[in-house]
Amino acid sequence: MVRIHPSILSADFVNLERDLERIASADGVHLDVMDAHFVPNLTFGLPMVQRIAEVTSLPIDVHLMIDDPDTWALQYAIDGVDSVTFHAEATRDAVALARELRARGARAAIALKPGTAVDDVLEHLREFDMVLVMTVEPGFGGQSFMPEMMPKLQELRGRADELGIELALQVDGGITADTLPIAAAAGADVFVAGSAVYGHADPAERTHALRLAAAP
Ligand code: DX5
Ligand code: ZN
Repeated sequence: MVRIHPSILSADFVNLERDLERIASADGVHLDVMDAHFVPNLTFGLPMVQRIAEVTSLPIDVHLMIDDPDTWALQYAIDGVDSVTFHAEATRDAVALARELRARGARAAIALKPGTAVDDVLEHLREFDMVLVMTVEPGFGGQSFMPEMMPKLQELRGRADELGIELALQVDGGITADTLPIAAAAGADVFVAGSAVYGHADPAERTHALRLAAAP
């Protein structure tokens, strides 16, 4: 099943409730938490995530681009947050953190920057509900999709199928109606899109267009 998760990074932060309503037909909302250390950009933290959880009925997908998720990630496993994604490059013990997140009732997801290989994740695939393959360098919206990440998706999907496990495979960065089918063909099923949704006059229509691109 294909899922479309608009990222509010490109939304209007002063009119966020309105912009959340505009993506009501999406399958989830992607929240990019950045700390200006792990990535060279700063967004928002837990108070914003808590407040968004109060006003939206969409499942929330938190993408933590922060140092030391081992200390901070569990705080995000609140009511309304469906999955918490931390970066492989930032964590000391990905398996331990994933287990703690699941114990708190959140889906556990691990993200890979473009330069990070899949090998370590492949070894522990059962520990994660979702793997996020970044298709840009994390930190900013509006960058170009990196098709050279597709073999990572193919490997992850292949191993998940071998193991017979249900694994969500998310892509984030440069997803448009043109690039989405490329990632879908490689095995992705959760598509994050920021500028392709909120960089246009009608985010509801853009959300619909992405869904059509996934299942023409
Ligand atoms: C970038 C963020 C993305 C961002 C994607 O580091 O993780 O979620 O919003 O933006 P687009 O879709 O514009 O590439
Ligand atoms: Zn993201």
